[in-house]
Amino acid sequence: MNSYVNMGVGALLGTVFVLMSVSIASEGIFHSEVPEKEGFTIVAEAPADAEGAGEAAVAAVPIGVLLASADATAGQAVFKKCASCHNDVNGGANKVGPNLFGVVERPVASHEGFAYSAAMKTFSKDGAEKWTFDNLNHFLIAPKKFVPGTAMGFAGLKNDTERANLIAYLRTTADAPVPLPEATPPATN
Ligand code: HEC
Repeated sequence: MNSYVNMGVGALLGTVFVLMSVSIASEGIFHSEVPEKEGFTIVAEAPADAEGAGEAAVAAVPIGVLLASADATAGQAVFKKCASCHNDVNGGANKVGPNLFGVVERPVASHEGFAYSAAMKTFSKDGAEKWTFDNLNHFLIAPKKFVPGTAMGFAGLKNDTERANLIAYLRTTADAPVPLPEATPPATN
């Protein structure tokens, strides 16, 4: 009887020992380095064309200067980035975002049939604020910085040339394109 107990305990200990050895051995064999950063880094709306920290995005060059050498045809290609959410044809339907035909000098948040965010309505100052070249320039470089809380889920176009080309293109999608702004930077004092 006693020896049976001994055998049982022995077998149990033996099993535990084997299991422990296996686990220690497999730890050694399959041990994988813990990655420095765990999992994926999800970069929300990573600016594909950011040239620096998105945080520091400011329009350094006046839009008039940028537009003087802008290429509206090249800008039409850039508009592909917007086309999933915006229509640019006269009378075209609103999509995720409002129709942008004739948006230059159009009062902010004024396209009929579109439910603008509270943030955009505030920014519109009840129709007093317009989409001037300058406003478009600042908005498109970093939408959520210029209009905090906007519903426009777009990181922004940090590249000056690309942005200027796009704005030049937006200008042409109108019955009568607004004249280009002054190419000379305004005097600072
Ligand atoms: C993911 C969808 C999406 C993309 C991409 C997008 N927009 Fe928008 N856009 C919106 C939404 C939504 C609004 C309305 C914002 C609000 O109400 O806050 C908006 C608003 C605007 C407005 C203000 C219009 C008005 O009537 O006041 C302009 C200008 C604009 N977008 C330009 C652009 C341009 C140019 C691009 C491409 C570079 C672009 N958007 C890309 C969704 C988008």
